[in-house]
Amino acid sequence: MSEKSSTARSSYSRGAIWLHWIIALVIIGQFLGMQYDETLAETDPARGTIYMLHKSFGLTILFLTLVRLIIRLRQGFLPLPPHMAGWEVMLARVTHFGFYALLLLMPLTGWIFGVSAKRGLDYFGLVPVPVLPLEGLAELAHELHEYGAWAFVILFILHVAGALKHHYLDRDDVATRMIPMLKRRS
Ligand code: HEM
Ligand code: HEM
Repeated sequence: MSEKSSTARSSYSRGAIWLHWIIALVIIGQFLGMQYDETLAETDPARGTIYMLHKSFGLTILFLTLVRLIIRLRQGFLPLPPHMAGWEVMLARVTHFGFYALLLLMPLTGWIFGVSAKRGLDYFGLVPVPVLPLEGLAELAHELHEYGAWAFVILFILHVAGALKHHYLDRDDVATRMIPMLKRRS
């Protein structure tokens, strides 16, 4: 392994950090947008725009996640600090794996049930998005989208709790390697 790649392994690359935070912000926006949508009347014309944005941002997440996974697979796992117990390492890996699974599942299920011959989609109002030939799975996809949203919330709580624990209780550098404005512990 070259010196460059072994250095990169002690921290996330700049691209991985940017992608992490852009995707996190868009995801939070997806949840807030849908929460706001629920407060609107059935006939409110703003709902069409909110849905178009939700779907377009959701498909953007699919694309960004594929880029992120390529970076991730090329860079491999980052080592976790040796003080972590086996169950903590397992929980961290399961949470990250679960996030990646949901980052693919949410947009794909949304695409299956949210873009149909009847309800087409222009990506950000510009380019028509093809209908996936999986309309028979629309109902299942819709349900998975809703369960997936709950799973996301659970993983998010575990993930943020983990970051806080690493920084404030364990006082190690796991949080600082993804949040560069935090002061490194070592
Ligand atoms: C990572 C990406 C995505 C996230 C995090 C996400 C999240 C959500 C959430 C939290 C809801 C509300 C669920 C509920 O009411 O229980 C929702 C609903 C919805 N999503 Fe997504 N979504 C994503 C991608 C997409 C995509 C790509 C599409 C379509 C192309 C889409 C289409 C829809 C539609 C049509 C609804 C409304 C469902 C209903 O009325 O019951 N979503 N999404
Ligand atoms: C919906 C929002 C978020 C998603 C989907 C997400 C997803 C992920 C994923 C998949 C990883 C693993 C990176 C990899 O190995 O490639 C990761 C790492 C990390 N995330 Fe998040 N994240 C989100 C929000 C946050 C927030 C709000 C914080 C801070 C409080 C945070 C802090 C971290 C830290 C510190 C790491 C590095 C952990 C390590 O090196 O083991 N994330 N995140």
